[in-house]
Amino acid sequence: MQIKNLEEYNIAYEESVKDPERFWASVAEHFEWQKKWDKVLEWNFTSPDIKWFINGKLNITENCIDRHLATKARDVAFYFEENEIGKPVREITYQKLHDEVCRLANVLKSFGVKKGDRVCIYLPMIPEAVYALLACARIGAVHSVVFGGFSAQSIKDRINDSSCKVVLTSDGAYRGNKQIPMKATVDEALVDCPSVTNVLVYKRINGKVNMLNGRDHDWETEVKKQETVCTAEIMDSEDPLFILYTSGSTGKPKGVVHTCGGYMVYTCYSFLNVFQYEPGQIYWCTADVGWITGHSYITYGPLLAGATSVIFEGVPNYPDAGRFWNVVDKIKVNVFYTAPTAIRALEAAGLDFVKPHSLSSLKVLGSVGEPINEEAWQWYHKNIGKEKCPIVDTWWQTETGGILISPLANITKTKPGFATLPLPGVQPVLVDDKGKIIEGNGVEGNLCIKFPWPSIIRTTYGDHERCRQTYFATYSNLYFTGDGCKRDEDGYYRITGRVDDVINVSGHRIGTAEVESAINECEEVVESAVVGYPHDIKGQGIYAYCIVPKSSRSHDEIRKEILNTVNKIIGPIAKPDKIQIVNGLPKTRSGKIMRRILRKVAEGDVSNLGDTSTLLDPAVVEEIVKGKI
Ligand code: WT7
Repeated sequence: MQIKNLEEYNIAYEESVKDPERFWASVAEHFEWQKKWDKVLEWNFTSPDIKWFINGKLNITENCIDRHLATKARDVAFYFEENEIGKPVREITYQKLHDEVCRLANVLKSFGVKKGDRVCIYLPMIPEAVYALLACARIGAVHSVVFGGFSAQSIKDRINDSSCKVVLTSDGAYRGNKQIPMKATVDEALVDCPSVTNVLVYKRINGKVNMLNGRDHDWETEVKKQETVCTAEIMDSEDPLFILYTSGSTGKPKGVVHTCGGYMVYTCYSFLNVFQYEPGQIYWCTADVGWITGHSYITYGPLLAGATSVIFEGVPNYPDAGRFWNVVDKIKVNVFYTAPTAIRALEAAGLDFVKPHSLSSLKVLGSVGEPINEEAWQWYHKNIGKEKCPIVDTWWQTETGGILISPLANITKTKPGFATLPLPGVQPVLVDDKGKIIEGNGVEGNLCIKFPWPSIIRTTYGDHERCRQTYFATYSNLYFTGDGCKRDEDGYYRITGRVDDVINVSGHRIGTAEVESAINECEEVVESAVVGYPHDIKGQGIYAYCIVPKSSRSHDEIRKEILNTVNKIIGPIAKPDKIQIVNGLPKTRSGKIMRRILRKVAEGDVSNLGDTSTLLDPAVVEEIVKGKI
């Protein structure tokens, strides 16, 4: 399954395009199937209808855990580094992982959870979060993880969208020097979630929580009652494995659905090849399980490969900006995978936080979530990788399930800012705005993929039409990523960023429409428009233009209220960085907001605002330029 050099990559790539079914069948052979598939692939991008490993039967947790027990029962699956510095690292062996997952799976069963039922997970970055995902998968329940930075309202919307039966949560989370309540937030959400019958609460911070009799249960007490054996549910390749909500350019977040067989094959294959993980190495991905990276490259991919990984509860700047490097030395991490925003923040903190650490165990560095600017790339390469570790700049999305475009460590020649080349099985194309495929090198366009790979999105939960509209209707017969992209003279891909109304803030995807509708909930705000602008640390910041009629309150008070409202409706991650109070927004005669102009102003590029002749009232623009923050 693991490519070893450039020649092998070229051969694998060619084979994967010439005969995709044969290629993926040979990869899928490496897994344990309860029953092999009858046919590798059936697909069309019009419905869309995509099926991989048809009629194959499996359970992903048998491949993540049981399969390794014969040889690896006492090997470490996870090292757990707590938020607090100076604590000994906890070791979770494959055997322990097996036992904990089975116990928790049995608890879910005792709550009446059955194959196909949905379970919401709202937990901090602790081993129990990983157990939770796997316990669901063990019994065929569909997990829906909600990131800890989302508000009660967001949890509620997600629970109701997929009618979750059970919620797995904790009293709270340690985050740097803060303690964040979680159960209280869940309680607030559950006031309006009729489908939820049981809540399991892990005690992490020993916080005071309200426990509702009959509904809420203590995690440890329940788990202790259960056996460490739980027969894995037999799943069809195309049974859903999980739902993960993600923002788009319109409406509420959609539940991206991934299925068991293809996701298993692709996350393992991409993990082994991109990071060139070798048995015995220690791998650390700093993401949170609340995002797809935490699903594919903390939980499933590494476990499928039998790897040893790190789970880190804390944050990069606590107790100081040397924490990552402290942990790298402490656990002797070989492969380190993080986001550009973290790199930029640590770069800004200065080299004094890097110098005391040797970092000599590092062999491979990774980047994910947003374009990595050349300066951050060079800093990472020089100061963290000591110019001897390749950087794999991995491009992918929640919808793609796994990494699609990336160097293979020590195999693909890297180039700062470039995700370089597609993995075998991935067929990217660039198209112009009319959908015409742009051939050749040294070109730029909208990034699409023209052939399915095993972990492609199957549907958006409860609304297949939305999946079709969003990803498969813009250009016929192509999966549209929403990203702009360049292909240089070497055929290398460079992702330039979103071409739709999605902002990438610190690697988190935020839909402008969602933020606008939250802001509009403020009584004082008549209308708003939200755009992204370049931000030194976050990559992009959120800039909100808000129409507020003359009122008795000061702009500062109104701004505070806007921030509170967004915090309450979406969560702290969507709070605007800048709020400009305006009297009007630039609109065309047909009433459409001209975001292009608002983006330019937010970027500070007002010298050439382009054609404003179609504007209803050009004076609005002058006022906005004058009032820029
Ligand atoms: C969007 C997907 C993939 C897991 C984390 C984010 C941007 C992601 C890169 C990269 C440039 C990147 C894209 C993409 N993105 N990785 N290496 N270089 N841009 O997942 O929340 O689904 O966001 O993140 O714009 O479309 P996500």
